[in-house]
Amino acid sequence: MNPFKKRTGVLPSYFTGRTDELKELKRIYDSTREGDAGHIIIYGPKGIGKTCLLLKFQEELESLEETYSIRIPMVEGSFFDIYSLIVDTSAESLGMKISSFWDTIKGLGINIPFVGGFTVSRDTPPTSPSVAIRKILETIYNKLEGEDPVLILLVDDLQRILINEDTQRVLSILQSALVELNLKGFKIMFVATGSYDIFSKIQDITDSAIRTFDPYELKPLSLDEVRDAINIPSNKEGISFEEDVLERIYDVSEGNPYYIQVVAHNCFEESINNRVSTIEFEKSFPSSLNFLAQREFRYMYEKSSIEERKILSIFAESNSDVLAYKEIKENKKSEPSRVLQNMTKKNLLVKESRGKYKLRDKMFKEYLRTEQPYKLNGTLEN
Ligand SMILES: Nc1ncnc2c1ncn2[C@@H]1O[C@H](COP(=O)(O)OP(=O)(O)OP(=O)(O)O)[C@@H](O)[C@H]1O
Ligand SMILES: [Mg+2]
Repeated sequence: MNPFKKRTGVLPSYFTGRTDELKELKRIYDSTREGDAGHIIIYGPKGIGKTCLLLKFQEELESLEETYSIRIPMVEGSFFDIYSLIVDTSAESLGMKISSFWDTIKGLGINIPFVGGFTVSRDTPPTSPSVAIRKILETIYNKLEGEDPVLILLVDDLQRILINEDTQRVLSILQSALVELNLKGFKIMFVATGSYDIFSKIQDITDSAIRTFDPYELKPLSLDEVRDAINIPSNKEGISFEEDVLERIYDVSEGNPYYIQVVAHNCFEESINNRVSTIEFEKSFPSSLNFLAQREFRYMYEKSSIEERKILSIFAESNSDVLAYKEIKENKKSEPSRVLQNMTKKNLLVKESRGKYKLRDKMFKEYLRTEQPYKLNGTLEN
């Protein structure tokens, strides 16, 4: 059986590293337990391991008494969709009937239009969103067993609520509700994950939210951690990866666990005599690249403008990974500042240092060099 996962959002067969992160989460938990609640947003690029870290933390919480965690994968939707999502997932994970939950909320005189199957009552004015969310959290908390329980909200993909003005308000509403409830002695801890640029998005909306939520950047895995992530599960299946291969995988993935899983999966499929050497690595690599192209890279390329594609081609064709503004300008034959800025914002490029840029990651560069999408249909002629 192949122990490596080809998709994101699922726990790997062997979870490597992340000891500092789990320690930090535990520290915030302890502090919340003692009455000084903390809130954190873990952020990083696609596939870096945000969801898995939440899952792992949730696993560690299972053994703790009077501790309740609720994992809410955020969706893009309206204000009311988000309310329903919070209530429905909470009721479900606490083993309560969703309808009785809404009844309790309604019983408090809370009047939220459209959610939980009830419509605005004519007699009661609709409840303001900030009161509603506070009451919802209060209701959830009060249903917990124990004298002094801790409630941990694990919200995955917070950036999804930041896409329209209506739902953007949820964040500041949530923030003030948390602050108020914590002051009243409710032990509620909030852990969210977000895309690499979530803090710049939040900053554009509410400056004060930054003060409530601690930022924590999730970094790539180290070589030792990558070794364990591959060796431990594959040895269990009787297959061993040669050290050269492990180093190659570490190098090309740059420690991104999603890439590691995909590449290791395909190497494993090619293993001969219970071994994976660089020959099998080379043989399987095109399928890994093709898989990632289909899932991620082609779309990223197709979404980009003609000007952006031109710059991507300059990077792909160049022998050095890092290019200076001047070189890009010379190659592009026009002023690139604005495009470069946009591409950095979209995470197609990263800024190495002042005036120096590189492609978002090596795997994306491999895709561009191999598939050369900029040579198709003469898109970049003239
Ligand atoms: N600590 C780890 N050890 C080994 N493998 C891991 C680890 N963390 C994540 N992975 C693997 O990498 C894949 C991607 O992780 P995850 O889904 O957590 O990333 P993500 O940051 O949430 O991605 P996305 O941006 O798509 O939501 C997972 O499916 C898992 O197989
Ligand atoms: Mg995720």
